[in-house]
Amino acid sequence: MSISIALTKGRLETETVKLLDKANYGTDELKDKGRKLVFNDTKEDIRYFLVKAADSITYVEHGVADIGVVGKDTLLEADDDYYEVLDLGLGKCKFIVASSPENDFFNKIGHIKIGTKYPTVAGEYFKKKGMDVEIIKIEGSVELAPILGLCDAIVDIMETGTTLKENGLIVYDTICDISARVIVNKASFKLKKKEIESFIKRIKAIL
Ligand code: PRP
Repeated sequence: MSISIALTKGRLETETVKLLDKANYGTDELKDKGRKLVFNDTKEDIRYFLVKAADSITYVEHGVADIGVVGKDTLLEADDDYYEVLDLGLGKCKFIVASSPENDFFNKIGHIKIGTKYPTVAGEYFKKKGMDVEIIKIEGSVELAPILGLCDAIVDIMETGTTLKENGLIVYDTICDISARVIVNKASFKLKKKEIESFIKRIKAIL
């Protein structure tokens, strides 16, 4: 039976394609993609889609994709109607809390505002700390928000730390590590057990 795999485009894409290549999947179309979004494996009965991280979960949950490759950061923000089966160890980064060095917001008395692309992760983190904060959802360039005074601190992902450094921000706390995961549609896991297990086994063998 053929399987469909939703791959996250952007940061994770190159590393994921490299991994598929190493596992001897037919990645020629993926490597020469132009503006195309759907690709056939040139060796196996597999179809790949390139989508945004959050959409990869949606395609898997709706069974349009049997498998998805997506960052743990995005998984932590979404509901979890899928099986998470494998940590690929790619796209490694961390969830951090950051602000300017002089802004000791943890000890601030009064209203604290947190800017983030990840309101669920940020909300859960401050709830565990017993801090009542206002979460402000931001879509990108999050480091700008405390600089311009939109918020006291940010919850964001840090990979190299360059963006924080170049914008004069420091890490106040690390929330957790993040990496790319393989997720599987619950029904596909039963109906295409053989194909999915074989995919996982081949990828595991080269990790
Ligand atoms: C992410 C994240 C940080 C940056 C961290 O943003 O939100 O801004 O990468 O990477 P670094 O530690 O290696 O500097 P992304 O590039 O995905 O774009 P965005 O600003 O549009 O969210």
